[in-house]
Amino acid sequence: MNKKQNRRTFLRSTALLAGAFSSNNLFSKEMLPELTRVNHAKEGLSPQVMAKDEDYWSVIQQGYSASYSNILILNNGGVSPSPIVVQKAVETYNKLSDQGPSYYMWRILDQGREPLRQRLAKLAGADTEEIAINRNATEALNTVIFGIDLQRGDEVIGCYLDYPNMMQAWKQRAMRDGIIYKQLSFDFPVEDDELIVNAYKNAITPKTKIIHVTHVINWVGQIMPVKKICQMAHEHGIQVIVDGAHSFGLLDFKISELGCDYFGTSLHKFLSAPIGTGMMWMKKEHIPNIWPIFSDADPKRNDIRKFETLGTRSFPIEQGIGEAINFHEGIGGKRKEERIRYLKDYWAKEALSIPRVRLSTSLLPAYSCGICGVSMEGMTAPELDSALFNKYKIHTTAMVNEHVSCVRITPHVYTSLRDLDRLLEALNSISKTV
Ligand SMILES: Cc1ncc(COP(=O)(O)O)c(C=O)c1O
Repeated sequence: MNKKQNRRTFLRSTALLAGAFSSNNLFSKEMLPELTRVNHAKEGLSPQVMAKDEDYWSVIQQGYSASYSNILILNNGGVSPSPIVVQKAVETYNKLSDQGPSYYMWRILDQGREPLRQRLAKLAGADTEEIAINRNATEALNTVIFGIDLQRGDEVIGCYLDYPNMMQAWKQRAMRDGIIYKQLSFDFPVEDDELIVNAYKNAITPKTKIIHVTHVINWVGQIMPVKKICQMAHEHGIQVIVDGAHSFGLLDFKISELGCDYFGTSLHKFLSAPIGTGMMWMKKEHIPNIWPIFSDADPKRNDIRKFETLGTRSFPIEQGIGEAINFHEGIGGKRKEERIRYLKDYWAKEALSIPRVRLSTSLLPAYSCGICGVSMEGMTAPELDSALFNKYKIHTTAMVNEHVSCVRITPHVYTSLRDLDRLLEALNSISKTV
């Protein structure tokens, strides 16, 4: 490359970089004109009506390279692909970083961290000073679980269908510090808020300090009445930690509306941010009381940034979150929630008419959105998962522990109705062979 070309490449990357921190971003350039065109004709239509508008969703589907895959991916609850604009942003930032990581990553890309914090705060309906950017929900929630002061004999209430990493973290605290970790059992699906809230309430003792609740249960997709649990807990002087790995970017809510004390989420699930991105929120007043997992010069300081002292990690991945927010906001939170719920309803309601098919998930909107568990009488969940993949090249995941046994199906905005017809045909054929 000669000097002139070098300069042109540099100017192009700088322009892209500047774009990522302004409204002149990749999403606006590559997707917005077409989205605006389809949106124009749909003005005033409710999210529920728009959920069924295949013209509109075909534009969104084209925004993902995952929609070209011949293998049908229906485990978006595990981890979701990024839209093409997000992939391109990360590629650009990576190329730039490789021109001189210590300069481009630490001096240039890192300038995007505070604007990104502000954008995440706006999306979460939170104060910017309450948002920490990290790598996943495990990191976010383990920071709180290991960082909170508890005395021997203090009690924490969770549930058997919380996420394993968090259950393990509480068990580790029980082993190490002598806290008592109690786990509730629910026979999901449960379509009764009071039953759930009362289960937590009845487990409270004078020693209870924390309730740990999963907003959307990953095993079966049950939506928990988090707001009511928080209200009840606070009446008893108990703090609530919410695992929002599956709710953030899927359900249209603001963290501030939940009334919780701590919230951790992955951004690489329904927000479709680059893989290896997460977020932690905590009420400002709690910040000085929580110890950071990774050492900080002043661990008791009242600054959310003390939870980001991670050492060297990928700033290109972190900065790619911005384009995922653009994409998400370009669709609109409520419209996205209703589309994903519609996709779940589309296959799940039809599947109920297939002999031997059972669902582990409520079909009421208050209790489920995109995630739904399915099983086939006469087969184990791993057998159904294998049959779907080996013969039909449909990728799902088997969810099995002492309390559940099902195959979890999770579509995303890039999933088409044709994809779901393929799933239904597969379930139909499998049911005939059992
Ligand atoms: C409910 C729940 N919490 C936490 C996690 C952990 O997410 P991550 O792997 O991003 O840390 C998951 C992952 O699937 C989950 O389902």
